[in-house]
Amino acid sequence: MEIVLSGIRSTGHLHLGNYYGALRNYIKMQDNYNCFFFIADLHSLTTHPHPDDFHAGVRTILAEYLASGLDPEKSAIFVQSDVPEILELYILLNMISYKGELERTTSFKDKVRQQPDNINAGLLTYPVLMASDILIHRANLVPVGKDQEQHLEMARVLARRFNTFYNSPVFPEPKAFNFGDDLVKVPGLDGSGKMGKSEGNGIYLCDDEQTIRKKVMKAVTDSGPTEPNSPMPDSVANLFTLLNIVSKKESVAHFMESYNNCTIRYGDLKKQLAEDICAQTLPIKARIEEIYKDEDYLRKVVKRGTDLARESANATLKEVRKAVGFRSFLNSDD
Ligand code: TYM
Repeated sequence: MEIVLSGIRSTGHLHLGNYYGALRNYIKMQDNYNCFFFIADLHSLTTHPHPDDFHAGVRTILAEYLASGLDPEKSAIFVQSDVPEILELYILLNMISYKGELERTTSFKDKVRQQPDNINAGLLTYPVLMASDILIHRANLVPVGKDQEQHLEMARVLARRFNTFYNSPVFPEPKAFNFGDDLVKVPGLDGSGKMGKSEGNGIYLCDDEQTIRKKVMKAVTDSGPTEPNSPMPDSVANLFTLLNIVSKKESVAHFMESYNNCTIRYGDLKKQLAEDICAQTLPIKARIEEIYKDEDYLRKVVKRGTDLARESANATLKEVRKAVGFRSFLNSDD
């Protein structure tokens, strides 16, 4: 069975971008693959969360994973910092990662712009830690959104480089995965770019009906097309992208036709969009709180997931250590 791995940082709540870009694929993959899904709490440290909030952040994502349908009987669900093997691989991969290539990563350049006072080394080597998460399980497929494409490329480069450098075929080359043809980029409703936690434009799985309606109704549009088949401004195209993701084909076709013949009423489109988002997210929301509170259940889920993850990670690390040339004085069969 092919091995699948993916994770989400423990910053804030999950939004539609996380759900449609990543989580929904995780849920669909559980039956047919050997799946590992985790909470990337170490990655979230690059932005220096307050220690008082740190654990709640992890617990939030765990509860939202489970409420969305991740099944601990089918997938190994764990927290990154509970698997120290990842960090040993991280240090080894750092030795074959070069400053120049890390500085050229788009996500690093973005962060340098966004947080000029906190350009820490963890940001620079973020893709190396991500590659370690993936390669420690020798994963073949990594369900992610479009924004992670470059990081996946880096994981492939490092897998290949390690295998060549140490002349040992330890790692397969992991591929980004989506059930559709292309990786998904869920847009924000503010007329620009992607939906994101730091962009402040998210619709969250834990939002209630009224909040969702309000956010959707406030979405940026223009004054409407005045000529048939006019090109679409980005803000309106974004609404259609969302509609394509959450609504029935007939709804999309209906609004597309009314856009093209200039009869569209954006209010109607937004109402439909809000309703279709609610239909998908409200059942998830209804489960989050109860799961969040169930400490015993969460502990059991993570215990099982961590055991599976560490077993898989240790098997890989053994091969890695052999390839690098470690031989311990302490353990004669190492
Ligand atoms: P993170 O926490 O930023 O996002 C988690 C997942 O959600 C996807 N995503 C989106 N997809 C489509 N449209 C959007 N607007 C959108 N916003 C977020 C992301 O593509 C991602 O799949 N570095 C990763 C976490 C990570 C990881 C890994 C992922 C750490 N190690 C190993 C896979 C494998 C991150 O920051 O994701």
